[in-house]
Amino acid sequence: MISAKIKNKLASGSAIRKMFEEGNRLKKIYGEDKVFDFSIGNPDLEPPVEVFDALKDLANNPIPGMHGYMSNSGYESTRAIIAKKRGDEAGMSIDAGAVCMTVGAACAMNDVLHSLLDDGDEVIVLAPFFMEYINYIENHNGKVVIVQTDDKFMPDFDAIEKAITNRTKAIIINSPNNPSGVVYNEEQLKKLNELLKKQDHVIQVISDEPYIDLIYDGLTVPAALKYIDNLIICFSWSKSLSLPGERIGYTLVSPRNEDYEDLTGAIVLSNRILGSVNAPAIWQRVIEKSIYAKVDVANYEHRRNLLYSNIVDAGFEAVKPSGALYIFMKTPDGLTDTQFQDICAKYNLLLVPGASFKREGYMRLAFCVSEQTIRNSREAFEKIAGELGIKK
Ligand SMILES: Cc1ncc(COP(=O)(O)O)c(C=O)c1O
Repeated sequence: MISAKIKNKLASGSAIRKMFEEGNRLKKIYGEDKVFDFSIGNPDLEPPVEVFDALKDLANNPIPGMHGYMSNSGYESTRAIIAKKRGDEAGMSIDAGAVCMTVGAACAMNDVLHSLLDDGDEVIVLAPFFMEYINYIENHNGKVVIVQTDDKFMPDFDAIEKAITNRTKAIIINSPNNPSGVVYNEEQLKKLNELLKKQDHVIQVISDEPYIDLIYDGLTVPAALKYIDNLIICFSWSKSLSLPGERIGYTLVSPRNEDYEDLTGAIVLSNRILGSVNAPAIWQRVIEKSIYAKVDVANYEHRRNLLYSNIVDAGFEAVKPSGALYIFMKTPDGLTDTQFQDICAKYNLLLVPGASFKREGYMRLAFCVSEQTIRNSREAFEKIAGELGIKK
């Protein structure tokens, strides 16, 4: 007999599974290129050449003991190079001890939340957000506190302040954001820090940064390390190096964090006791050799531009994403997300309703699909706008 907790979660996960099955059904009937499936956010670029060179080098020149157990925090040399890179970006000195290598960002967040939460402790999340946060928080008996962002998906500081209680342990931020693609600026990070520092207990900021390298229009993502003191970064190379299947990432505790000593130790222990023990050995070596490499970000930017044009040229509304892999378009007035989703499905256009990110009135479209699919979908957007009488 499985637990009631997981039974409930199995039942509530069925909406996304249904959409996935619907996509496959439509593709069988109409063909792959006639179904515009924007529902899945799977990075589709190949990793950069540096990754393959590093793998070849390791295969040709194996290091004795390279497949053995190691410290639960990972290789010192890998952590040192990450600490240097992040320190240089933020203009500060960071010790390798601040870093713990993890099995992707998902594991990083679980390690951090396990380290922070006593039963019933609260974690603030800013909607719209990546829904797995709910599982990550509940895995460690925490309570999810959802705070909506403003109409541009930026933090609403009054709403955050109202949501803080004496049980608030942390707030999760995610910039560039999944699903909205927005990037928080320096002022917003500073303001968040000020707001949290004036509370009478420590509130940690967990900065979930898997999209930090996917940034467009010549912008840079401000280093949260510069502006937020009680900061813990969760990073992965799932997107930056297109390695989601390899499961490699890290946590980094800011040297300015008031709980630095306790946190760095607790995260390494959590990494061990939650079952990953340490991050994959080979991938730590690969990262060390390709730390400054990135996927072809211009390719994603090009596809973002094409999909964004399809949406707004047809008369729909969306905040243009500055980063990540998604556009969060507005559901036309007078329709629920599900009604709009059904109309889109008639034209073989598959999108994820905002409820899946706790923000209704919007739909998420992932642009990590082929350029041809995006180009072919243009007509569908026009026809849907026509059916709904939307004016350009
Ligand atoms: C916002 C966000 N955080 C975390 C993750 C998990 O990333 P990883 O593959 O590194 O576990 C994802 C994956 O899509 C994500 O979108």
